[in-house]
Amino acid sequence: MIDEMTDLKRTHYSTELSNKDISKTVVVCGFVQKVRDKGNLVFIDLRDRTGIIQLSFNDKTEKLVIAKAKTLKSEYVIIAKGVVVSRESVNKDIETGDIEIIAEDIKVLSISKTPPFHISDDVNVNDELRLKYRYLDLRRPELQKTIMMRHKITKCIRDFFDKEKFLEIETPLLIKSTPEGARDYLVPSRVHKGNFFALPQSPQLYKQLLMVSGYDRYFQIARCFRDEDLRADRQPEFTQIDVEMSFVDQQDVININEKFIEYIFKNILEKDISLPIPRMAYKEAMERFGSDKPDIRFGLELVDISDIVVKSGFKVFSGAVESGGSVRGINISGGFEKISRKDIDKLTVFAKTYKAKGVAFTRIGNDNISSSSYEKFLSQDIIDQIRDRLLAKSGDVILIVGDAKDETVFDSLGALRLEIAKKLDLIKGGTFAPLWVTGFPLFEYDEEKNRLVAKHHPFTSVKHEDIKKLDDKPLECRANAYDFILNGCEIGGGSIRISDSDMQSKMFNLMGFEQQEIDDRFGFLLEAFKYGVPPHGGIAYGLDRLVMILLEKDSIKDVIAFPKVQNSSELMSGCPAIVDKNQLEELGIECKQKEKE
Ligand code: AMO
Repeated sequence: MIDEMTDLKRTHYSTELSNKDISKTVVVCGFVQKVRDKGNLVFIDLRDRTGIIQLSFNDKTEKLVIAKAKTLKSEYVIIAKGVVVSRESVNKDIETGDIEIIAEDIKVLSISKTPPFHISDDVNVNDELRLKYRYLDLRRPELQKTIMMRHKITKCIRDFFDKEKFLEIETPLLIKSTPEGARDYLVPSRVHKGNFFALPQSPQLYKQLLMVSGYDRYFQIARCFRDEDLRADRQPEFTQIDVEMSFVDQQDVININEKFIEYIFKNILEKDISLPIPRMAYKEAMERFGSDKPDIRFGLELVDISDIVVKSGFKVFSGAVESGGSVRGINISGGFEKISRKDIDKLTVFAKTYKAKGVAFTRIGNDNISSSSYEKFLSQDIIDQIRDRLLAKSGDVILIVGDAKDETVFDSLGALRLEIAKKLDLIKGGTFAPLWVTGFPLFEYDEEKNRLVAKHHPFTSVKHEDIKKLDDKPLECRANAYDFILNGCEIGGGSIRISDSDMQSKMFNLMGFEQQEIDDRFGFLLEAFKYGVPPHGGIAYGLDRLVMILLEKDSIKDVIAFPKVQNSSELMSGCPAIVDKNQLEELGIECKQKEKE
């Protein structure tokens, strides 16, 4: 069945062929997409990574060749030689639909079992099966297009940074564990039993050390590892476009990165984006959108009504404000027709997953008759003030969340805003809204750890004007940090770094580290900072997220060749997996879980 090695050599990828090749003898190779056997006529759709071309076998074809064509099945690997002719019945669905190849010779290079799903974009296959047979899934044209686009984006990134005098420098994958952020993946050392490397969560410290070493402008397409719960935009291993520069301030870093974003949009999507990219302070982002990564492509902005309701006598609202929180609402303009009572119940259940205790609502009918969960508890004056503040009119729906914790109000209304936009289809496809968010707090308080933790990371510098507040009001200090947001997705984040040993030690102290711990974990960095440090700063973008948003995909799994699933395992190879007992012995490790004999 399989032919001995053939001396046929590919001359063209299928979609390289067109009308201008008529009468040429060509050789193509790839997978059998479809066989249509019409007796003395056989048609084969041959698929390669560029697309599909039809091979035709007719009464002029040698008998043996036509007999072989009849034996072919989906996904057989073949190579075929023939003459390009124009096609009588043009197939508008494929790029090469106006030509075909009259086959003279065909060789079968490999046969295929019937695949567990048809290789096509319009089959509905569940995720699990697709990932178990990812190598087949990766044959689907849509995924092939995505993976090829990802290559193009990566090349574009390298071209840009090279042009701007950045050096691509690799940093190690086996590094010291310095957990401060997500959980590390650990790698046991055979030579130093009981000692562990960690896989890098990012090349942060190495890129800073490269600045200490005088490389001035660095970038890297870097693999990163974080042992955290997965979401649509999170994978345990992912890729960063990691960037660092010396002798810069925040504006310098933003300037070069705006050029970078402009370059990517132009070269990948042929779109012009207008510079400068808008900026928004963290505080404004939270207050208007309930999120530090706002999607600014639609309205539904949050409106603070705390000052109106605090004296309303309605405890649910006034109590929230009196306990230090707030009451905020959003107005869904024209929502009366589109959001039913049932929908509001569903949205309430949804908001509760963000810790909201409930969602108060008013539906204002077109005849101005309302149904409301809270207006009966308020005076007409307060009702009017709330409606005025929210610019609510007949036909609108108001949703309100109040809580003693501002954070809960922001989280739940921010999430509701996105959910409603999805439901009402408020986001136009093909639109891109880039945004810088700046002025982040330097610290946040971690209730579990019972101490301050860095909002960005511990190497981020404090805004000059806030240095004096570091000791007394650390939570009021703002960082020289910036995030790059695209369509409500955090694509990148960076900061101007601390480049002074004493200030760096002070940061660690404020976060409650003991001196011994600081020396053990970060001693090498503090020592390096004693030998001349250029002021420096940088950024890292999530490459997977960037590709996902540019190509308008729903999940980063759709832009990664071999992604992990929700529980961080890989379904195709079945990892993580138990290892041999002697492998563990060599490492000096005893496992509580079962071991392989
Ligand atoms: P940060 O932790 O914000 O910063 O990461 C930078 C960007 O990396 C992407 N990212 C992820 N993508 C997929 N899966 C994940 N689990 C994941 N985690 C992060 C995001 C994010 O914006 N060293 C600093 C950068 C710096 O200060 O220069 C850092 O890693 O798109």
